[in-house]
Amino acid sequence: MCGIIGYTGGKAAAKIIYEGLKRLEYRGYDSAGISVLCDSEIRTVKRLGRVSALGGFLGKMHGSTGIGHTRWATHGKPSDENAHPHNSGMFSIVHNGIIENYSQLKSEYLLGESFLSDTDSEVIVKLLNKFYDGDLPSSLARVCGLLRGSYALAVICAQFDGIAVAKRGSPVIIGYGENENFVASDLPALAGMCKNVAVLNDGDIALLTADGVAIFDENLQGVIREILPNPAKPADLELSGCPHYMLKEIREVPAAIERTCQAYAYVENSVKKALAGVDRVIITGCGTAYNSGLAAKRYIESFARIPAEAEIAGEFRYKNPVVTSRTAVIAVSQSGETADTVEAAELALSLGAKVIAVTNSPYSRLTRCADVVVPVEAGCEICVAATKSYSGQITALYMIARTLAGFSAQSSADRIAPFPALCAQTAEREDIDGLADMCARSYGTYFLGRDTDYAVAQEGSLKLKEVSYVPSEGYPAGELKHGTLALIDIRTVSVFIITRPDLAEKCSNAVEQVLSRKGKAAVITNVTEVAERFKDRAYVIEIPPCDEWLSPLVSSEVLQLLAYKTALLLDRDPDKPRNLAKSVTVE
Ligand code: AGP
Repeated sequence: MCGIIGYTGGKAAAKIIYEGLKRLEYRGYDSAGISVLCDSEIRTVKRLGRVSALGGFLGKMHGSTGIGHTRWATHGKPSDENAHPHNSGMFSIVHNGIIENYSQLKSEYLLGESFLSDTDSEVIVKLLNKFYDGDLPSSLARVCGLLRGSYALAVICAQFDGIAVAKRGSPVIIGYGENENFVASDLPALAGMCKNVAVLNDGDIALLTADGVAIFDENLQGVIREILPNPAKPADLELSGCPHYMLKEIREVPAAIERTCQAYAYVENSVKKALAGVDRVIITGCGTAYNSGLAAKRYIESFARIPAEAEIAGEFRYKNPVVTSRTAVIAVSQSGETADTVEAAELALSLGAKVIAVTNSPYSRLTRCADVVVPVEAGCEICVAATKSYSGQITALYMIARTLAGFSAQSSADRIAPFPALCAQTAEREDIDGLADMCARSYGTYFLGRDTDYAVAQEGSLKLKEVSYVPSEGYPAGELKHGTLALIDIRTVSVFIITRPDLAEKCSNAVEQVLSRKGKAAVITNVTEVAERFKDRAYVIEIPPCDEWLSPLVSSEVLQLLAYKTALLLDRDPDKPRNLAKSVTVE
């Protein structure tokens, strides 16, 4: 949610920043800008639209220190004026986060100042200009002390050949190069640019020059933050011959399952320890991560017979949850930076729960607060819509549930073993196009299933609406007759997921109810009788027979492809859906 990057060294800063911004574009893509320091003067260019709108200006932006930003609007519409960087006097800043008390700060400290934007962020640079006393870290610390909300800030000053950085709540990473240093919101921005990184703590202030990095805590005492290898590789950012990251990442589902399964062996004992004596489990997350929790609830209750709930993180954190020292909270997040999920995890910890993080991001905020981290080894996921990370989450959550039930990681891995191959075959399916065409023409598409198939239905619905903008809902199949049936007519498509033989008959009744109302129906199934029954009356996609608990790995991949293909038919950009950003670090 907004990407920031900064460079200071001996090379042309604008080009490096531009490249980094393109890599960070999944964090926001409504406008972008760059400031560089050239002969003690700051030059800024910022434009509405994608990062590429800046490409034509790079030749004129000389200087080897600079900052850049790609925006996901919170305060103020997308426009040239509201794009970052924001400047005042000899300062230019980029900001990721939300300053909640910006109006109060304006009236308290900045009366009479004229503002060029409607953003909360411009207040920060005005305050810095007002309170600057010749010492950048202490002036920045003073300003940060006034801010309420979240921020990752990178600042350049006409009097200093370097970058000042401050952080609270929003992610920021320092990259260490040779005679050059970097700051960025996220690791992929620095892939191939530097081998080592450090993650700042909340309250930290850093000063970067070409020669080094100094880090201070909120009391301005010098501190050392661990230097870690940068796991992001340039190859992670390549499209590998695919037209979109979404397709590339769907094709990487098999590797995500395999690697997540292998990595679990290393944390099995820690998970066992964390779950010892637990009498209740809450799985929390947002969006896709929450949807994987819906499947996990079923795994935990069915395998371990321990009560489990899936809770949307933004609800959990505000509902005064019932949590005891015998509760385990599993916080699921691809990015590990989603504000609601991290806050939910921190709340659970403060209430005495054991917190297990399931995340694809090794140095994220979530990993730093959890008792145990179960890695999702999906690799960099660039497309805003989660695909391979969902499959990795399902794999990890299945293994955690089986650990809770007393099974070994090896026995779980044996069950998962056939799935990378099944998912590789699924990625190549060509029989989804007809259904995509039906969805693209539909007035609304509904996804229905029971039990784990219901969990997949929710995810299929989210994926479709997110990338194609076709109105869509997911329902438990049994709920159809309690209201949703009123929506069904010839313009709607109902997609049923039926992989549980014991529930097939009941779900088939729901398909009949849709067909009787002239609704169009599709059935994704590995139950032969169901496929036979509907082959002439519905769009049937048969998936291979497989372990019923793990069938979500295959059926969800079919729905990911369905969403992708529908988006293309409607001429949407599946990698960058309108209004969205990949990592939601604000509330
Ligand atoms: C998924 O396709 C979405 N982009 C979104 O729902 C996402 O899953 C959600 O914002 C949570 O993100 P996280 O996994 O990084 O916490």
